[in-house]
Amino acid sequence: MFSKVVKESPALLSKQYGLFMLYREASIWEKVPMGPPDTILGITEAFKKDKDPRKINLGAGTYRDDNGKPYVLPTVKEAEKRIMAKNMNKEYAPIAGISEFCQLAAGFAFGEDSPVLKNGLNASAQALSGTGALRLGSAFLSSFYPHAKEVYLPAPTWGNHIPVFKHCGINVKYYKYYDKQTVGLDFKGLMSDIMGFPDHSILLLHACAHNPTGIDLKPEQWKELSALVKKKKHFPFFDMAYQGFASGDPMKDAFAVRQFVDDGHQIILCQSFAKNMGLYGERAGNFTVVCKDKEEVERVMSQIKIIIRPMYSNPPVHGARIVLEILSDQKLRSQWMQEVKGMADRIIGVRKKLKDELAKLGSTRNWNHITDQIGMFCFTGLTPEQVDRMAKEFHVYLTRDGRISVAGVSSTNYQYLASAMHACTK
Ligand SMILES: Cc1ncc(COP(=O)(O)O)c(C=O)c1O
Repeated sequence: MFSKVVKESPALLSKQYGLFMLYREASIWEKVPMGPPDTILGITEAFKKDKDPRKINLGAGTYRDDNGKPYVLPTVKEAEKRIMAKNMNKEYAPIAGISEFCQLAAGFAFGEDSPVLKNGLNASAQALSGTGALRLGSAFLSSFYPHAKEVYLPAPTWGNHIPVFKHCGINVKYYKYYDKQTVGLDFKGLMSDIMGFPDHSILLLHACAHNPTGIDLKPEQWKELSALVKKKKHFPFFDMAYQGFASGDPMKDAFAVRQFVDDGHQIILCQSFAKNMGLYGERAGNFTVVCKDKEEVERVMSQIKIIIRPMYSNPPVHGARIVLEILSDQKLRSQWMQEVKGMADRIIGVRKKLKDELAKLGSTRNWNHITDQIGMFCFTGLTPEQVDRMAKEFHVYLTRDGRISVAGVSSTNYQYLASAMHACTK
């Protein structure tokens, strides 16, 4: 065949050979370096490869029911049925999304009676879930915050906070948060760090269910912090990805946000409906800048739209329609509140089972933090070496910082998990 081509069509051969050389010699992307794998996805890969029937994946932060299965909330199914029945079109949403959704979402966070809502002081835009809201917030600060180009994050924080801010040209620094000794909050360290930062610093605050530690400030501590932030004229930037999911009561989980607003802070708020409505893949979130007056809202909104337009033009509609359907119908909304409470209660219950089982097995370590912590995650205090042993010997997968996603623990695997934790920490 080859000799036939050589004889009959030397031109074709040289063309093909030339192309072949082109592919071999240089590709435009030759110098693109291999990036590190995502830590959570890496854990999932290792978990998938493991053939042991006792294996448990405690890496990913998505809710699972007591059978370890993903959970689509009944209210979400009902909302989707209603949306289908309305036979809606698929036109573009406005740049800032569905405005009724934004108002309901903001009301859910600040409270419908909040002066922010009543006086129309919220410049709100639908966002691509919590991450998208954070991205809008960091872009907005980068362009318009007059006092600083750096943000202070709690140490540790959700890993994605760092690149989100950095991509917008905002440097990241840290304030003390986690106390290794007590596996609890280092409130003294936090307050003294925040006191020491230059006036007008930007502070990222997890509103509730701090990720990855599961350790939150108590209401009195939030009040103290709010007073200090006021005194130092710092800027509070709230990330609220777990409202309702932490305690089971969305009002309780909104305490910090509402306290700061009551104390007169003009906060930025990022909301996600991924966890509390189980809408992970729908990317339904909300971004709000609290403004001084309506004229300021207009100006701020105009700039938020200018940020959104070249990034993704306008947000997807389906997830926002689901949230809108649930929040705007009193019956559906109260049923949903029960479902959120159900998810939170299952997590709280399984924390207790795990702690009691460790005591039953004779562990002499103090495991109180398992039940003191709140939300999807529990910082176990396990060292990276102990985490490695958990995977190798017991087929239990978690991040190397010792964080477990409690959502992956169930009434059928908590005993095995406790025995693995006990064996690795003896
Ligand atoms: C602290 C925190 N913020 C924001 C998010 C954003 O989540 P999403 O973009 O899925 O709404 C998460 C998700 O894990 C989170 O833990």
